[in-house]
Amino acid sequence: MIDKNISFFVNQNLHSLARRLLKQIPAAIKNAQLYPLDHPYFIHSLSLVQETLAELFKYRPEVTFTMVENELYFGNMALVEDTLNLRQFIEEFEKRKINSLTFLSAVTRDELIGFMQILGRETGDSCDSVMVADKLREKGINNIQLGTVLQSEVVDGKENGGRAVMRFDAQARQKSQGMFFGSIGVIKQILHNVENGQSFNLDNVHRVVTDIVSVINNDDKYLLGLTTIKNYDEYTFNHSVNVAVLSLYLGKLVGLNSEQLRLLGEAAMLHDVGKVRIPKEILNKQGLLTPDEWKIMESHTLEGAEVLSKVAGISALSLAVAFEHHLHYDLSGYPRAERLKEINLLSRLVTICDVYDAATSLRVYHAPVLPAKVIALIISKKGSFFDPALAKAFVQMMGVYPVGSLVRLDNNELAVVYANNLDNILRPKVILVKQKIAGQDPVIVDLEETAGPAKGFKYSISEALAPRAYNIDVTEYFYDKD
Ligand SMILES: [Fe+2]
Ligand SMILES: [Fe+2]
Repeated sequence: MIDKNISFFVNQNLHSLARRLLKQIPAAIKNAQLYPLDHPYFIHSLSLVQETLAELFKYRPEVTFTMVENELYFGNMALVEDTLNLRQFIEEFEKRKINSLTFLSAVTRDELIGFMQILGRETGDSCDSVMVADKLREKGINNIQLGTVLQSEVVDGKENGGRAVMRFDAQARQKSQGMFFGSIGVIKQILHNVENGQSFNLDNVHRVVTDIVSVINNDDKYLLGLTTIKNYDEYTFNHSVNVAVLSLYLGKLVGLNSEQLRLLGEAAMLHDVGKVRIPKEILNKQGLLTPDEWKIMESHTLEGAEVLSKVAGISALSLAVAFEHHLHYDLSGYPRAERLKEINLLSRLVTICDVYDAATSLRVYHAPVLPAKVIALIISKKGSFFDPALAKAFVQMMGVYPVGSLVRLDNNELAVVYANNLDNILRPKVILVKQKIAGQDPVIVDLEETAGPAKGFKYSISEALAPRAYNIDVTEYFYDKD
C-alpha cells in the first residue's frame, strides 16, 4: 500500500496504533518471561497486542516493522521521533539482528502466545533472528515472519558493515563513457550536416556501431546504464544513441548476426534523421499539437527516408526503418501505408526501443514515465503496437524494473537498479541510495541472493518510484560527470 494515497487522518491513526503496538509487544514478551502463560498479567498484555493488531488489520492485510540503518519504519512510515520511546522494541530487534517483523492478518492467538513464548522464555539474548525464525517454523507459526539483517556478498573488494562495496572497473567505465559521448558527437555532426543541406559520411556511423557492438559482446555492464542519460536540450542526439544502444542489445539477445547488427545499428542511429526537417516551434511545442502540426510532425518519417535515400552506401533497411518506425506492428500507426503487408524486422525492433527511450525521457510535452510503467505498456501492447516475440525479449532484457529505475526494497531502503538480470526479470542488481547520498562507497545488492539454502530471497522490490519526487538524479549512478 502506498501511504501517500491515504488521508492524513488515517495515517495519523495508523501511526499511533503502530506506536501503541510497539510498546505492547515488549511488555507481553516481558510478562511471558516473568509469569506462567495462564497468568492474568500475561493474558491481559497479550489481549492488548491482539486488539491493536485487529485495529491495524482494518487498514492493511499485514503489519510490518522494519529497521533501516537504526531507524524504525512501520510500512513506509518512519517512526523517527519515537526512537527513544520505542527503545525497548528496537533493542529487541538489534540484539537478535532482526531486520523486519511482519504479522499477517490471519495470525491466531495461539501463534501470538507461541511468539511471546519463544522471545520471552525459549531463547537467550544471543539467539539471533535465524534461530528465532527456525523456532517459529518448528511451532508451525506461519503468520508471524522475521527478516534478517542484510549480509550481502562482497563484490570486487572490501566490506562495509557486512555489505557489498562496489568497485567500479574504472577502465571499462571510462571506455564506455568515452564511446557513448563520442557517439553523441557523431550523430550531432550528422544532423547538423543534414540541417544545412549537406551529406554525411556513413563511415563514422559504422565506426560507432562497431564500437557499441564490441562493448556489448564483451558483456560490458556500464553501457545500458548510460542510456539513462536523457539530454533535455539536445534530445534527438541522446535519443538516437540510446535507441541504437538499446536496439543493438536487443538484436544481440534475439540472435542477430554481426552483419545484421551492423545494419540495425546504422538504421537505429539514423531513425529520426527526418526531425531536422521539422520546424523547431513544432518539435519543441509545449502542449498538444494541432491536427495540422501533427501532420507535419508525422512527416519526419517520410522526410527521413528521403534524406537517407541520398546518402552514398546507405542500406535500404535504414530507409525502411526511418519510414516505418511509427507504423506499429499492426500497421495502425503512421504514415498510412495501405499497400504494406507488414513492417520489417529491424523496424519492429527499433519501434520498441524508440518508444521506451522517448517515454522515459523528459520532454516539453510530458514528464518522464517510470521505466517500469513503460515496460507494462510494452507488455500490454504486444501483438498490436509491438511484435510479441520482440516485446517479450525486450522485457527479458530490461526486466520489470529496468536499469535506472528508482525502487523501494521491502526493507524500506531506496535503491537504483544498476544491472539487469536476464534470468530473473524481477531480481536485478541495485545500488543503495543512502550510502551514495552520504558520499560513501557505493553498495550493491544482488536481489537474487537468498537467506540460505531452501530459504527465501533476502530482499525484493516492493515498488518503483519517481526519482524527481525524491530529488534523485539516477544518471549519477552510471557515470562520472567530471
Ligand atoms: Fe520518430
Ligand atoms: Fe525516435
